[in-house]
Amino acid sequence: MLFRSSARRTPRRPRRRASTRRNTPGRTKAGSTRSITLGNAPAHFGVTSAHPAPLDASQHPESYVVYREVCAACHSLDRIAWRNLVGVSHTADEAKAMAEEVEYTDGPNDEGEMFQRPGKLSDYMPAPYPNEEAARAGNAGALPPDLSLIVKARHGAADYIFSLLTGYVDPPAGVEIREGMNYNPYFPGGAISMPRVIFDGIVEYDDDTPATTAQMAKDVTTFLNWAAEPEHDERKKTGIKAVILFSALTAISLYVKRFKWTVLKNRKIQYYPPSDKSH
Ligand code: HEC
Repeated sequence: MLFRSSARRTPRRPRRRASTRRNTPGRTKAGSTRSITLGNAPAHFGVTSAHPAPLDASQHPESYVVYREVCAACHSLDRIAWRNLVGVSHTADEAKAMAEEVEYTDGPNDEGEMFQRPGKLSDYMPAPYPNEEAARAGNAGALPPDLSLIVKARHGAADYIFSLLTGYVDPPAGVEIREGMNYNPYFPGGAISMPRVIFDGIVEYDDDTPATTAQMAKDVTTFLNWAAEPEHDERKKTGIKAVILFSALTAISLYVKRFKWTVLKNRKIQYYPPSDKSH
């Protein structure tokens, strides 16, 4: 405000503001739009950035295990088929074996009847509830959202999911949480129907990794990050190829254009008016 009439104000001000904010993360000045209960900014954990690094395939079997053993009891993952896991976290045989453990309704057969059959690689992940009403009935009226695109559907993306899963705490003094709700400062409003589901040691990892809360939250977040965009790594690789290819084609076409046009561009057209021979 002091420099309102100064000509230098416009370029300088934004820079000053940015540095103030960086030095005081999470400040909650009176009147500021940020508040403790209305969705805290999730911490940035690097491992689960919004711009994920290519997935570490060796980490994946564990990531899937946490989804299957914990989240799948309430959440569906509609957009991921068993075949999507092949080459990412499991081999084709492993994925096929997992699919076969699930019964799917198929049909109708020759008699017009639906029948049950073991799952195939092309089947999608089974949902815990047959419909939304059943899901709500099983969760005191709250609907556990499908997790296929959840990383893309929330501000803070993977960081938010990680913070949400690890962020359950007792409500601070003065905050009343309704019966059946849980306090989580990362959830907008602070009161979430989903209870804390990740606790140390609830999952056993095959490779003896200690199953800490943070480890499991990181693994399942990595898995959901992948699930939201299984084609991510392939897309980036194709993108690089496209940039290289099109740059080469542009260079060639510029060269050819100049080559072909050189005759026209360097041509000199002169007009000699007919001289009047009568004078
Ligand atoms: C006991 C059932 C149950 C389990 C198990 C469960 N959830 Fe939930 N989850 C819910 C319910 C119910 C909601 C809806 C909460 C609400 O809207 O208040 C929810 C909401 C969510 C949300 C959305 C939050 C938002 O911002 O809207 C995410 C993300 C989530 N769960 C992730 C997970 C993950 C990851 C796991 C596994 C580690 C998991 N959940 C396990 C019941 C469950």
